[in-house]
Amino acid sequence: MKIFKTLFILVSFPLFAQQGGMWIPSLLEGMNVTEMTNLGMKMTAKDIYDVNNASLKDAIPHFNGGCTSEVISPNGLLLTNHHCGYGQIQSHSTLEHDYLENGFWAKNMKDELPNPGTTATFIIKIEDVTSKILANVDQSLSEAEKQKKIEENMAEVVKNSPKETWQENRVRTFYEGNQYMLFVVETYKDVRLVGAPPSSIGKFGSDTDNWVWPRHTGDFSMFRIYADKNNRPAEYSEENVPYKPKHYLPISLDGVAEDDFTLVFGFPGTTDEYLPSVAIEQVINTINPARIAIRDAALAIQDKYMRADPQIKIQYASKYARIANYWKKWRGETLGLKKSDAAGIKKRQENKLTSEINKKGKQQEYANILPQFEKFYSEIEPYALAREYFLETVLRNVELLRTAYQTYQLKQIFENRGEQSFNDRRDNLLASLENQYKDFNKQVDSEVFEALIALYAKNVPQQFLPNSFKNLNAESTASNIYENSAFVKYNSVKNLLTGNAEEVISKLEKDPGFILVKEMADSYFEKVDPKYDELNTNISALQRNYMKALLELSPKDARIFPNANSTLRVTYGKVNGYSPADAVYYEPVTHLEGVMEKYVPGDYEFDVPKKLIELYNTKDYGPYGENGKMPVNFIGTNHTTGGNSGSPAIDANGNLIGLNFDRVWEGTMSDYYYDPALSRNIMVDIRYVLFIVDKYADAKNLINEMTLVHPKKDKRKIKK
Ligand code: ARG
Ligand code: ASP
Repeated sequence: MKIFKTLFILVSFPLFAQQGGMWIPSLLEGMNVTEMTNLGMKMTAKDIYDVNNASLKDAIPHFNGGCTSEVISPNGLLLTNHHCGYGQIQSHSTLEHDYLENGFWAKNMKDELPNPGTTATFIIKIEDVTSKILANVDQSLSEAEKQKKIEENMAEVVKNSPKETWQENRVRTFYEGNQYMLFVVETYKDVRLVGAPPSSIGKFGSDTDNWVWPRHTGDFSMFRIYADKNNRPAEYSEENVPYKPKHYLPISLDGVAEDDFTLVFGFPGTTDEYLPSVAIEQVINTINPARIAIRDAALAIQDKYMRADPQIKIQYASKYARIANYWKKWRGETLGLKKSDAAGIKKRQENKLTSEINKKGKQQEYANILPQFEKFYSEIEPYALAREYFLETVLRNVELLRTAYQTYQLKQIFENRGEQSFNDRRDNLLASLENQYKDFNKQVDSEVFEALIALYAKNVPQQFLPNSFKNLNAESTASNIYENSAFVKYNSVKNLLTGNAEEVISKLEKDPGFILVKEMADSYFEKVDPKYDELNTNISALQRNYMKALLELSPKDARIFPNANSTLRVTYGKVNGYSPADAVYYEPVTHLEGVMEKYVPGDYEFDVPKKLIELYNTKDYGPYGENGKMPVNFIGTNHTTGGNSGSPAIDANGNLIGLNFDRVWEGTMSDYYYDPALSRNIMVDIRYVLFIVDKYADAKNLINEMTLVHPKKDKRKIKK
């Protein structure tokens, strides 16, 4: 028996025995459709993606380049997450009209709020252009020459592939340079805010519950796409009309049960599923701990001020949420990588690949990859660490440094491209800064600054530090800069940036904030960036070759999916609970009961609005409840990542059943290693969304636009 078992494992164990997968929608025919059908799907590949007829993909735009959204009415009504529309909701909020706090509902189209800059991008067509992109990319060329040729070919394909005038061609690489796809896209630019629940629903549980199951968050908001009179993209105008989609998603009222088929369709951002074990170890031991330490410091300070001052709370809500989100994710990820022994599993896969390379006589091409990975990852480590510190400190967590850094770039633009480019960039910068400074608090930023540059001086390898950091007094540096730099107020920055390029630069060079950033950036670009770049280019080339080996040497039916790259993908699975620890099993569906169990009156994370409590007490769930209970969230085995937020969860027949927004704590390592036992995505049950819109907000106007169906019970549409 035992022998049989081992044998069986040996023959059936592919190089990557990893489930999950984010698949290219135009390439589902075959293995994927077979798997999906076995899981219960009733659709064909063409129902999901079709170039000539309306299909699911036509209802699913990329929301503002970062999240996913779906069209749910014939009038361009768009559903996405509350946390995806957060910036927009916040930008319309004031202390008097606090839509973050109280929610917002447009009771007619005239009340919908424009959001300049917010976009919705549809995918019109996907085409494999690998042979065009790799044409004349000769093996004899150096890595840099190869990249140059590839870029030229890409530019050529983008320029010459057919498209309508209002469309855009984009080429993206898959399998780290082993495949290239062309995307023809259409970007709508007039996207108006239609509705948002209060944060006590849309962000219920806030950072404490973020990345955690069981979850009880109504993480949704609604927008509407507007088009010109020909239904084409146009900048905001009063003349624009609601967009008429090629397809919009019908909404199922039948809910979900364990084992139901689910498909999540959206724009996953980045994953790294095929890293070697050395790289995983570096993430666990070096990169994540550094990032976490920096954000620990920044968040503690912001939190202290936000709790004390409601004005600061509004100003910092969005920034804090952004910083906290990945801070927490990295912690979960590190735990999950350790617990699932991701590095060990990758190591065994590497050994398997090595023996395959030897067996097939491919040593010439591939035997060098793994030892080279070891060498380059160990060389890159101090540079990668210094780079994280630079990015986190200068670009992500201290606003004054980020702004000063943008002016540092402005100076370079003048030096490289002249006065005209300088002027354009300066004007753009000032426009965006005017908004940013509304949410800037000097005291908060100065404290974050002080804490972070102290960490910088302590933890960045000494050989990479600017001289002034060698005996840095963080406290006096902070008070000097926040007392004397122009970067603490919009008006003074504006003055600083007024004048011709040479005048501006000479003023900048006297500003203490600019001087500090210049020291940091100069030493980074001199001592860290070039070497990092060189090593990273080598690593990318290796990774491409490693991927090639995997594609070539794995069995024909191996499930090798391309890493996420912000392009449209299909992931599928089923509604499924999980067991995170001995004797613990998490069921896949939560209910309003759980919201009430977590309720802490007045708490900023766990307060519950009065009206929702009333609806709960009277069990007034309308057609949205099930057996007297109101479902709230559910989980499934769909492989998702950042960018999948707002993605529709779709049933076997193509109806909307949920809205993806998060993953479970024990499974967040899925960007590096998807563990089928632990990795789950979290979705809002669409019936909770409808219940909030209808019963809580009384926005019947929106319900009336939608098509509600009962696919399990009968095929009839619900009468409205
Ligand atoms: N973790 C989810 C994602 O990565 C939700 C984030 C928004 N919520 C929050 N509390 N920050 O986007
Ligand atoms: N919350 C993520 C997003 O915003 C989704 C995830 O990382 O699971 O895209």
